[in-house]
Amino acid sequence: MEDFYAIRRLPPYVFAQVKELVAEAEAAGRDVIDLSMGSPDLGAPEIVTETLREAVLRKSCHRYSESKGIKRLRQAQADYYARRFGVKLDPDTEVVHTLGSKNAFANLAFAMTAPGDVILAPNPSYPIHMFGFVMVGGVVRPIPVKADDGVFRAAERALKYCVPRPIAMVLNYPANPTAEVATLDFYKEAVAFAKKHGIFLLSDLAYAEIYFGEPTPSILQVPGAKDVAVEFTSASKSFSMAGWRAGFAVGNPRLIAALTRVKAYLDYGSFEPIQEACAVALDNAEAITAEVRAAYRSRLDVLLDACEDAGWSLPRPEASMFAWAEIPAGQGDDALAFCKRLVREAGVALSPGTGFGEAGEGHVRIALVQDEDRLREAARRIGTVLRGEKAKAA
Ligand SMILES: Cc1ncc(COP(=O)(O)O)c(C=O)c1O
Repeated sequence: MEDFYAIRRLPPYVFAQVKELVAEAEAAGRDVIDLSMGSPDLGAPEIVTETLREAVLRKSCHRYSESKGIKRLRQAQADYYARRFGVKLDPDTEVVHTLGSKNAFANLAFAMTAPGDVILAPNPSYPIHMFGFVMVGGVVRPIPVKADDGVFRAAERALKYCVPRPIAMVLNYPANPTAEVATLDFYKEAVAFAKKHGIFLLSDLAYAEIYFGEPTPSILQVPGAKDVAVEFTSASKSFSMAGWRAGFAVGNPRLIAALTRVKAYLDYGSFEPIQEACAVALDNAEAITAEVRAAYRSRLDVLLDACEDAGWSLPRPEASMFAWAEIPAGQGDDALAFCKRLVREAGVALSPGTGFGEAGEGHVRIALVQDEDRLREAARRIGTVLRGEKAKAA
């Protein structure tokens, strides 16, 4: 029997193949250092968990909540945007709370896409940027990841030759998996381009707060951006709350209304104590994110130094919680094969670049999701594989 429509459009997750090997190795009693998923291990700050604890004891919080998020939370997100980016948002028409930003992205894709509609999305990219649309019958045309003129040249070609014309362009800076960053000037060009061509911009700002140089800009800082752009943010990375499932979409009122309408059919919002705790996280974003950044920065320094010692020079990312690197010389260019070897021979799991699209071939992504000692040990073990020795996993 033929697979269902959506299933036919979803290739098996490349990451699952690495995860299977990790599970096998662990079942055999081996220690595996898993740096594959971008799942923050720092844990939510105490002020947030305490708010959750108090709210959970109030039985009035146990009913269905509001799908679009309680007003207190939407207001906290609007206040955060005002403080952090100088962007004014109407919490009633320009902010919606979602069950994570991945969910927000997928539901907006569902709300705005008809079968055959064309979307421009970077390759390599976080899978939902492509498959959110593909799943509902959309067609994705790749654009480059680097935030420069190349993006607009590729988009211009697509607008000239694609029938039907593309309806939207996905932007994701700081980028997963490449850690590419964008400037406000780039966003200015993107907004002007979108207005000129009558397309929407979908900006995934999940890594807004994880930067090591200049603070990451928001596309909504561009005057008039709300006419064409919507932006996604997440408590997962900024506040180390990935398991809580709390995110937002903000910006263009038409897109926010469409997402809110679809969501109202699909969910009742997060458990209300989670929303209350998330509002407290936003109220304290400056202090919380300063600590998160400091943790990732020192982990990054440790990883880069230890990999250098192991004979593998990684480029230094300016933002995100990832290092993105070419497979070391002499190790072939098959990312999945290299990652499988690292699990088998070194007990270290990385993400193969091809999990993010074919343009990721020859690359791997390393997530800073373990403490410094474990990162040092991971690099040591990788070094033994690069030198052709078998690593002794603890
Ligand atoms: C670019 C990007 N967007 C969104 C997400 C998912 O965020 P959330 O946990 O809010 O769904 C991730 C998670 O890795 C990501 O890398």
